[in-house]
Amino acid sequence: MLLNRRLLPLAAAVLVLGGCATSTPPVENGVLVAGASGQTGKLVVEQLVAEGYTVRALVREPGKANGTFPAGVQLVAGDVKDPASLAPAMAGMTYVVSAVGAKSGKGPDRPEMIDYQGVKNLVDAARVAKIRQFVLVSSRAVTQDDNPLNKMFGDVLKWKLKGEDALRASGIPYTVVRPGGLLNAPGRQKTVVFEQGDTVTSAQTTIARADVADICVQALKHPEARNRTFETHTVEGPPVTDWRALFAALD
Ligand SMILES: NC(=O)c1ccc[n+]([C@@H]2O[C@H](COP(=O)([O-])OP(=O)(O)OC[C@H]3O[C@@H](n4cnc5c(N)ncnc54)[C@H](OP(=O)(O)O)[C@@H]3O)[C@@H](O)[C@H]2O)c1
Repeated sequence: MLLNRRLLPLAAAVLVLGGCATSTPPVENGVLVAGASGQTGKLVVEQLVAEGYTVRALVREPGKANGTFPAGVQLVAGDVKDPASLAPAMAGMTYVVSAVGAKSGKGPDRPEMIDYQGVKNLVDAARVAKIRQFVLVSSRAVTQDDNPLNKMFGDVLKWKLKGEDALRASGIPYTVVRPGGLLNAPGRQKTVVFEQGDTVTSAQTTIARADVADICVQALKHPEARNRTFETHTVEGPPVTDWRALFAALD
């Protein structure tokens, strides 16, 4: 059940954290959102706040992000390429949701460095911080080596799979969400579908970023989502009401 579906007003009431990890007290239901400044990450932050979670947003440029999140969201400066920045960001948190993704196929922020090494850095820091669940937004088709996206965008799918593998091997309870094409559209307008096996090769499947954010939040609320990897898209139909059943049906 929603605690508060209406979002708090956007505000600049943010705390920029830094410094010593050990001085940060535990935060009940605290969620670190990596990729919080991204299109999906922002929706994850908003939905978590609406559900009553305490949210810390990992951003590369706090100055730019300040004022763009709901009131009460903490901002923490960090770069997933820099492990030293991640330990203080995780300190005291209970959960991690990552919606990071490379924005370029080449250069220092290529998929290898973000979707693999960056995710691995997050996972390593999460293990040290004893994070109780890590939700990773990955992608459909990560197991399809000959998918054209790999050629077009720095082997992005191959690196995403390696990032997923690092999480699955970590021992941290995980949920790996593999969406199809992402749309900027309202959530809960269609039926969310989960599949497994990564067999769909067409790029025809789509899902609203808001629905992906919803899945990430629901994954934290339902123990049935732990240690699950699945693809997802939406089809015409009513919004999901029984998330527990949807997660429980997964292998
Ligand atoms: N686009 C699609 O159709 C599609 C389909 C399937 C899966 N996906 C995946 O879904 C996820 C969300 O996609 P999106 O389009 O909503 O994301 P997006 O808007 O491109 O946002 C990516 C986020 O990653 C952050 N990031 C990149 N490099 C970073 C670094 N070194 N340290 C910290 N943060 C870093 C960005 O931060 P800055 O704001 O600082 O750059 C941004 O917040 C991504 O993993 C994407 O690959 C996308």
